Amino acid sequence: MSRMNLGVNIDHVAVLREAREVNDPDILEALYVACQSGADQITIHLREDRRHIQDSDVTNIMMHSKLPVNLECSINKDILNIVCKVKPHRATLVPEKREEVTTEGGLDVEGSKEQIAYAIEQLHDSIIPVSLFIDPTPTAVQISKEIGAEMVELHTGTFANLFAMLHSNLGYSNHSIKELQLPRYELSSRLEKSLEELKNAASQANKLGLEVAAGHGLNYHNVHEIMKIEEIVELNIGQSIIARSVFTGLKEAIKEMKKATTR
Ligand code: PXP
Repeated sequence: MSRMNLGVNIDHVAVLREAREVNDPDILEALYVACQSGADQITIHLREDRRHIQDSDVTNIMMHSKLPVNLECSINKDILNIVCKVKPHRATLVPEKREEVTTEGGLDVEGSKEQIAYAIEQLHDSIIPVSLFIDPTPTAVQISKEIGAEMVELHTGTFANLFAMLHSNLGYSNHSIKELQLPRYELSSRLEKSLEELKNAASQANKLGLEVAAGHGLNYHNVHEIMKIEEIVELNIGQSIIARSVFTGLKEAIKEMKKATTR
C-alpha cells in the first residue's frame, strides 16, 4: 500500500458557526473529532474576508492540534504576515476573489510569478514549507518548481464537476456550470481528459521532486478515480465530509434532544 494522507478541511464548521455568530459548533471540537477519527492533517483557510475561519481560530488550532496544520492563504501581505507569525506546518497558497463562493481554480502562477515567488520566499524565511494550489497544466507544474515550492496541490474541481454531471445526483456539482447542457459523450470525453491532465501533472511534478496533493470537490463517489493516481500522496477534503456528517450525525442529535425534552 502506498501512502495517502487525508487532510480534513474544517472551514465549513466555522461557516455554520459564523451564520449565527455564536460559538456553536465549536471548531476545537471539530479538531478533536478529526484527530480521533484518523485524519492525517487539519486544513483551514484564513480568507481575507474572514467569512469562516477567524484569526483566533488559527491561533487556537495551532495551539491545540496534535496533527500537522495546513494553512491555506492568499499572497495578501497582511495575511502572509499572520501566517509567518503562527508558523503552520505548511502554507498552501491559493487564489482568492472576494465575490467567489469558494476557491474557483488554481493560482495564476504564470501571470503572478514574481508575486508568488516573493510570497514563497517570505514563508521560507519563516521556515514554512509551501504548497501551491494549481491547475493541472505542464506550465503550472514547471513554474511551481522554478519558484521554489516544495509541493503542489492539483485542483480537482473541473474533474469533480464533470464527474457529477455525468453521474447525475452523485454529489458535487457547481450550480453555475454551463456544461450541464452538454451531451453525455461530450461530458465523458471531457471527464477522461480532466483525469488525464491530473495524471500527467502528478507524474511531471513527481519527476521534478515536488510532493503532490489534490483537492476540491472530492467526495465519496469520485475519490476512487483520484486514488488511482499513484503520485498523489495527500488529499484535502472539506465540503463532502462535513455534508456527510450532517446525516451520519443527525439521528443521534435528534435522539439526544428528544431525550432532553421528554418529561
Ligand atoms: N484544497 C483547497 C486548496 C481548497 O481551497 C479547498 C476548499 O477550501 C479544498 C481543498 C477543499 O475543497 P472541498 O471543500 O470542495 O472538499
